[in-house]
Amino acid sequence: MTYQHKIVWITGASSGIGEALAQAFAKQGAKLVLSARRVDELERVAKSLSIAAEHIFILPLDLTQTELHAGFAEQVVARFGRIDVLVNNGGVSQRALAQDSPLDVDRKIMEVNYFGNIALAKAVLPYFLNQKSGQFIIISSIAGKFGFWFRSAYSAAKHALHGFYESLRMETEQHGVNVLLVCPGKINTNISVNALKADGSRHEKMDDATAAGISAEACAHQIIQAAQAGKEEVLIGGREIKAVWIKRHFPKLFGRIIRKQKPE
Ligand SMILES: NC(=O)c1ccc[n+]([C@@H]2O[C@H](COP(=O)([O-])OP(=O)(O)OC[C@H]3O[C@@H](n4cnc5c(N)ncnc54)[C@H](OP(=O)(O)O)[C@@H]3O)[C@@H](O)[C@H]2O)c1
Repeated sequence: MTYQHKIVWITGASSGIGEALAQAFAKQGAKLVLSARRVDELERVAKSLSIAAEHIFILPLDLTQTELHAGFAEQVVARFGRIDVLVNNGGVSQRALAQDSPLDVDRKIMEVNYFGNIALAKAVLPYFLNQKSGQFIIISSIAGKFGFWFRSAYSAAKHALHGFYESLRMETEQHGVNVLLVCPGKINTNISVNALKADGSRHEKMDDATAAGISAEACAHQIIQAAQAGKEEVLIGGREIKAVWIKRHFPKLFGRIIRKQKPE
């Protein structure tokens, strides 16, 4: 399977994994819809792509404004005639103890990572069902497989994505809809810099673990490979992704290992 001439809509396309995915899909000859809040960064990414300007649609959006999502999907279809792939990648992490985090910060993390994400999928789904094809590529996390220090709301939101999309997959696969859940481990992006602290402000720090992660480009390459293979789920990263397997088969050992990890 190739993405040549496919209409690929990427959220969180202004940096990190989303930007790398835009580069990778452009190399395959896809037509791209680039979404995030920062228009200047989306324009920078668009200029760097190896495809003609008329094959790129910059569509700024805030994932939390879910009431606008159906209108955004309409705009994409008006521009390109259809949507083939929604890469639901935009998200924000967390660096705060649960005991310190007020509920409104938990809700904000849930709004971006869960409700914003599924609202966009619900806006796109009628087009997928009508055309009897379409692919959701959902960027979850290994935090969607187990909890971790300072990630209570983030991990909860990512776990919730698995419940939603595993159900959606069962309900729609007979209508030609494919769902790929991607669980990255440590990827070297600004995720920790942009993560929210207990007071809702940005962490503003590049964590050692994030800095030591694999590149966003390597991550994007593996995401596209998994998507082309029609996989349902893929773990991407370094040795940290082995923790998912250890948790499944040796839960007590997992408990000992995970408690020893540096809390950052
Ligand atoms: N890096 C990792 O180690 C790692 C590991 C596991 C999972 N992930 C997941 O990978 C995805 C991409 O993160 P990244 O690592 O590339 O980090 P990043 O560089 O901080 O990128 C996050 C992206 O999400 C967008 N975004 C954030 N809040 C938004 C909102 N309210 N509305 C619309 N867009 C919003 C940002 O754009 P604007 O600021 O312009 O809106 C940005 O493009 C996230 O879902 C993250 O949870 C990352």
